[in-house]
Formats: sequence, C-alpha cells, structure tokens
Amino acid sequence: MPMNRVHRKLCSSEEWAQAVEERLLPWALEKVELGDDLLEVGPGYGANLRVLVRRVARMTAVEIDEKTAALLAGQWGEQARILHADASRLPLEDAVFTSVVCFTMLHHVPTTALQDRIFAEAFRVLRPGGVFAGSDSLSSPRFRILHFLDTMNVVDPDGLPDRLEAVGFTDVVVDLHPEVRGFRFRARKP
Ligand SMILES: C[S@@+](CC[C@H](N)C(=O)[O-])C[C@H]1O[C@@H](n2cnc3c(N)ncnc32)[C@H](O)[C@@H]1O
Repeated sequence: MPMNRVHRKLCSSEEWAQAVEERLLPWALEKVELGDDLLEVGPGYGANLRVLVRRVARMTAVEIDEKTAALLAGQWGEQARILHADASRLPLEDAVFTSVVCFTMLHHVPTTALQDRIFAEAFRVLRPGGVFAGSDSLSSPRFRILHFLDTMNVVDPDGLPDRLEAVGFTDVVVDLHPEVRGFRFRARKP
C-alpha cells in the first residue's frame, strides 16, 4: 500500500517513533491486556512494533508493502515474525493470538469492505477471550494534505461498534482522544 514521500518520511522518523512510544501507544493500549502472543497488522516502519516487541513473549507483524516488510524483517526479524501479507487475508491459523492490534493503519485500507474483512480476520485469528485494539486518526485539513495522492479512508468512530459487533466482537469500546483528532478502540472475542 504505497504512501506518498512526505508520509513515508514522517512514519519512519524518530520524532514519530517517540510520539508513538510516549503518547499514542500508552493511550491506545491503556488497560489493554495483550497476553503473550501478539499480532500487529500494518506495522509500517515499526514505530509501535519496536515498543510492543519488548512487552510480549511472541510477536508477529503483517505488512502488505513488500519493501517495508523486508526492511522490518532486517531490523526485527530475530525478535518478531514478520510476514509480507494482506491483513484482510491473513495466512495464519484460527484462534492462535491473545491480542491483535493496529495503529494509524485502518485509514490506509482503501474500502470499508476491506476494513471489515480485516476485522473479521482479526476475530478469526484471536483465541476466545482475546482482544482486538488500536487507534487511528480522524480527518483534518493537515491530515488531508499529508495524504495528497495517498490512500485516506478514515473510519467513522460512531459506526465502529456496529461494524466490530457484526463480525462477532463483544465488549466494544470506542473513545475519542481528548486533545488530537483521533480515536482508540478495543473489543473482545467471546
Ligand atoms: C500509515 S502506516 C502506519 C504504520 C504504523 N502502524 C505506525 O503507526 O507507524 C500504515 C501501514 O499499514 C500498511 N497496510 C495498509 N493496508 C494493509 C493491509 N491490508 N495489510 C497489512 N498492512 C497494511 C501500510 O503498508 C503501511 O505500512
């Protein structure tokens, strides 16, 4: 899923990695139990992965962009399993993960149907009791400029609970960020 040059530069920057570690991730995963077997979909340049890999016993990341997946495998391949694959068609068995996460990724999925397919795949690969959690941005003038000639299919947080429940999740919670234009979500596989 190609990103424009400015966007790639931002996502691979140390500044973004620090913002993720210090602000975004603590908020997105507040009180979320990841368990010992985590899957991240859409890791990009690994800003979240590099923090999460220290927190869990086993980590898998699925990235659709071949070059980015290869870069991640070179950097993190000894500590995490990195797969070049599409999160809407995961090459993974049913009911293996204790948690599935995605951050700043869903708006890069071009259609609502494909986003729903990712939700269904997250549900399928989770163990019963497992959690699906993450966060994403909402539209703003700056965000639209950043996505010039880029995929930008922002999720409506109001509609998200119904969409997650439609694939089987329960205990869905969606919150808006108190300061920036973004939301977090968490849901459980019964
Ligand atoms: C904006 S980047 C965010 C990366 C990272 N999560 C972060 O917060 O820095 C979105 C990433 O999701 C990946 N992506 C988009 N659609 C995907 C899909 N269907 N399966 C796996 N990865 C996907 C893109 O290639 C890109 O690397």
